Amino acid sequence: MPEPTLQLVTSDNVEAACAIRLLPHQDAHVESVAVSLALAYTLPTKAWPRLVHDRSALVAVVMAFHRVDWPGDPSGVTRSGLWRLNVDAQHQHQGYGRFAVLAVCADLLERGERTCFVTYDAGEDGPENFYLKLGFRPTGEFSGRQVVAGLKL
Ligand SMILES: CC(C)(COP(=O)(O)OP(=O)(O)OC[C@H]1O[C@@H](n2cnc3c(N)ncnc32)[C@H](O)[C@@H]1OP(=O)(O)O)[C@@H](O)C(=O)NCCC(=O)NCCS
Repeated sequence: MPEPTLQLVTSDNVEAACAIRLLPHQDAHVESVAVSLALAYTLPTKAWPRLVHDRSALVAVVMAFHRVDWPGDPSGVTRSGLWRLNVDAQHQHQGYGRFAVLAVCADLLERGERTCFVTYDAGEDGPENFYLKLGFRPTGEFSGRQVVAGLKL
């Protein structure tokens, strides 16, 4: 059975990427793909956006961040992790979210990182239990209202 693949965002696929839709109750928790890709455009050395395809279907957009100064961390040590993850509503609960997180973790490990960080809304409809299931654990910090969690690589 073919594995999902990661692809770069190009002029050929960017509109399809922006057309990815979540379930209605999930929209409040994350930015749209268009906003994420616009942000990536402004931070080309820090943002790592990729599209997840399975066979010919575009199923998700994932974006990692690399070595950003962490607000509120007095140590001055930069952090890396998972910035955005939008799995298309029709393709959720089929393993694509897990695939995307593992792909980001593999990339970070190759770059010499030892922890993958993520921030998320802890609300009832949010992705907290997904991240807990994958092994992320809250660090005790918050980024605004969002929980900060980390996964040891
Ligand atoms: C959260 C999200 C990324 C999960 O993606 P997904 O492709 O549906 O997840 P997977 O199919 O890879 O699930 C992996 C495991 O997590 C579980 N899981 C997925 N979503 C879950 C949730 N909301 N609560 C609890 N468990 C969840 C699955 O059941 C699966 O468990 P299993 O291995 O025991 O079967 C997806 O629902 C999504 O895009 N949500 C809206 C956007 C969002 O919140 N993104 C994260 C922003 S930080």
